[in-house]
Amino acid sequence: MENKTENTPSIQWFPGHMAKTRRLMTQNLPMVDLVIEILDARIPKSSSNPEIKRLLGKKPHIVLLNKCDVADDAVTAQWLEQFRLEGNGALAVDCKSGKGLKQLHPLARSVLSEQIARWNQKGMTGRPIRMMIVGIPNVGKSSLINRLAGSRRAKVEDRPGVTRGKQWVSLESGMELLDMPGVLWPKFEDKQVGLRLAFTGAVKDVIVDIEGVAMALLELLNREYPALLAERYRFGDLDVSEYTPEQLLKLVGQKRGMLLPGGEVNTERAAIVLLDEFRGGKLGKISLERPEK
Ligand code: G4P
Repeated sequence: MENKTENTPSIQWFPGHMAKTRRLMTQNLPMVDLVIEILDARIPKSSSNPEIKRLLGKKPHIVLLNKCDVADDAVTAQWLEQFRLEGNGALAVDCKSGKGLKQLHPLARSVLSEQIARWNQKGMTGRPIRMMIVGIPNVGKSSLINRLAGSRRAKVEDRPGVTRGKQWVSLESGMELLDMPGVLWPKFEDKQVGLRLAFTGAVKDVIVDIEGVAMALLELLNREYPALLAERYRFGDLDVSEYTPEQLLKLVGQKRGMLLPGGEVNTERAAIVLLDEFRGGKLGKISLERPEK
């Protein structure tokens, strides 16, 4: 038995970054009505920040499960239900195409309905909803800002006299977006979390053992999504249910004709291709975490 925990990546995060994030959150939170927390729909748990509840305090927040185009729809539905049961507004979105984002404004209004009623009572009808976006690196914060703000963002930046730094972008729908996302850190001391972030590419390959990560992914896929794996790499009638991760990686390389001069399978290339194709959604819609019952 190989010991895969030796291959699991640990995430680098510096105390200075955490302190800066905490400071930014403390400065910005009082200015916003709502916080949008983006998670990766394939790994909602591993892409969350361990301190998010404490960081947000009583500030209303919405969870966006992004990249739902590459996640398993049935599992995404389970996650949405779980977040809603916990009392959070939640939506599945795809910031690449913009799918699901139309529901953001109605959801924001419904989450803030009591607040809006109070504003109306005070004669502040039509007051814009101010919000900010937070999430760990690579979950899609910039993509979301670009989707929501688009060309409006550039216009605001070009306006003379507008101080650099904090910038509000007015959205069509009576919302104002802080044009600077809060970059949160993941639960980096947990090796399983590190591995899942490596599967999705949130942790850069230069700092991980790529073959180890690919083998761990193959083991998971062969257990949870065997048909998709077999189809993508044309395993045919071969029964791979008892294959070790190493055998699976060799098979992937062999099926793609990735051989070294002596005839050995080039497992490093196979690992790169597998991870690349998984991240690009080429194997199909796959989720790597399910909510606990
Ligand atoms: P960040 O600001 O939180 O760090 O994330 P960013 O928006 O830069 O997105 C990180 C990567 O995730 C980008 O890919 C982006 O295209 C991709 N992405 C964002 N939203 C979605 C989504 O809903 N679905 C899918 N499939 N991908 C999404 P990249 O490879 O770094 O760049 P590129 O592909 O845009 O060139």
